[in-house]
Amino acid sequence: MLRVKIQNKYTLTCTQCGTETPNFWTWFDQGQQCPKCGSKHSEVSYNRRYQRLPRIIKRTPNSFWHYFPFLPLLRRRHIVSKGEGAIPLERWTFLEEFAKREHGLNIQVHVYRNDLNGGTGTFKDIAASLAASLFKEIGVHQYCIASTGNSATAYAMYLSMAGVNCSVFMPEDALKASEATISSYGQQVFRVMGDYAKAKEIAAGYAAAHNIPMSAGNIDPIRVEAKKTMVFEWLRQIDQVPDVYIQAVSGGTGPIAVDKGIREIKPIYPELKNPRFLLVQTDKCDPMVQAWEAAEAAGFPEGFEKNYPIIDNPQTEVPTLATGNPGTYPIVAKLVKESGGSFLRMHEKKLLPVGKLMAYEKKVIPGPASAVCMAGFFIALKKNLINDGETVLVNIGEGANRAPYFLEQMIYTSRKVKKVEECSPHVIDDFREQLWKEVLEEDE
Ligand SMILES: Cc1ncc(COP(=O)(O)O)c(C=O)c1O
Ligand SMILES: [Zn+2]
Repeated sequence: MLRVKIQNKYTLTCTQCGTETPNFWTWFDQGQQCPKCGSKHSEVSYNRRYQRLPRIIKRTPNSFWHYFPFLPLLRRRHIVSKGEGAIPLERWTFLEEFAKREHGLNIQVHVYRNDLNGGTGTFKDIAASLAASLFKEIGVHQYCIASTGNSATAYAMYLSMAGVNCSVFMPEDALKASEATISSYGQQVFRVMGDYAKAKEIAAGYAAAHNIPMSAGNIDPIRVEAKKTMVFEWLRQIDQVPDVYIQAVSGGTGPIAVDKGIREIKPIYPELKNPRFLLVQTDKCDPMVQAWEAAEAAGFPEGFEKNYPIIDNPQTEVPTLATGNPGTYPIVAKLVKESGGSFLRMHEKKLLPVGKLMAYEKKVIPGPASAVCMAGFFIALKKNLINDGETVLVNIGEGANRAPYFLEQMIYTSRKVKKVEECSPHVIDDFREQLWKEVLEEDE
């Protein structure tokens, strides 16, 4: 822990009224909000020379801590890391070939392999690593979080490593595998009988009653700062920001952080602009898609982003994405609109076909939220949302270990046998046609 609070590396600035907060000690003393207007949305800015960034970007990283000069931590000795964030962007040519063959498009498809993150294998690891490190530095010993699974799992692991107690509030339908993981680290789980909104409500009450800081959700400056490094990684690995960015969306930290990262480095990379954000939800929990479709039908009237439905108790196979009350829609919808992007709906019955295809073609077994994202790629092509010559980035956020039940449903080559005569050799290629057909079949 650092006791000297005077520093000039960074400050936080309220996005609503511009009031500055000098450091994260003060930010937590203020209850993680602006002291003047109460907004929870502040952004970090750095008193640093960005001219060094291109040189840093060209070196090989071990983790996102490679970008330490542009992260809000003062001492490297406080870093709590498991090698997260420096993950590969893989070219998936089978998708490029498909786009060429079926849609006549020459595109590049890069898949951002968040499932390879060191900690828990999800795209929440970087935020948890930054939070744990920062808490070590400023002396936060108790924390709490409401989460549908992946965030809580990552926070539980990293905060344990930093010796910070973390209480996790999970909705009734959160995955048993997540609960077990968190519990096994010794962190407290509260299984809330109700949906994610209810879990958040109970967590907020607990936070207030015990004066324990609570994770501030998608606009949390800690999460945004960690995730913005994704932009630096794109520049390092493909030397550009992609034209199109596809992600499964629940609250939308991804697009918020990409936008922040690009604005932050604009002075030295003036040509950069946001990719077109294509954000995907499932038909069982699609409040953002519904809101977007209504706005589109009305011609995007002034203030369109303020209107969105709330879905109580969404019944979805993808608990990770079960945010029925999307409080960040006003921020995210504006970014999507300005970028020329869209919100897309995928049908949950396509989850397994898409998951099986990824595993078959690339030997990458996705978790359900990753399958949602990948399904978005096929929908985007069908809706002509990708143009010839463009570079597309598909941000897959988790692997199969996060959802064992999903993996178990992928069995399709097994045969029950009793005798040798019932067993005959197979040819892998024979499965291909059927797998593609299941993915591309029209939904009725
Ligand atoms: C794998 C995966 N994809 C997508 C999301 C949605 O992310 P966000 O809440 O930032 O919209 C999550 C969130 O938990 C996730 O774990
Ligand atoms: Zn303010």
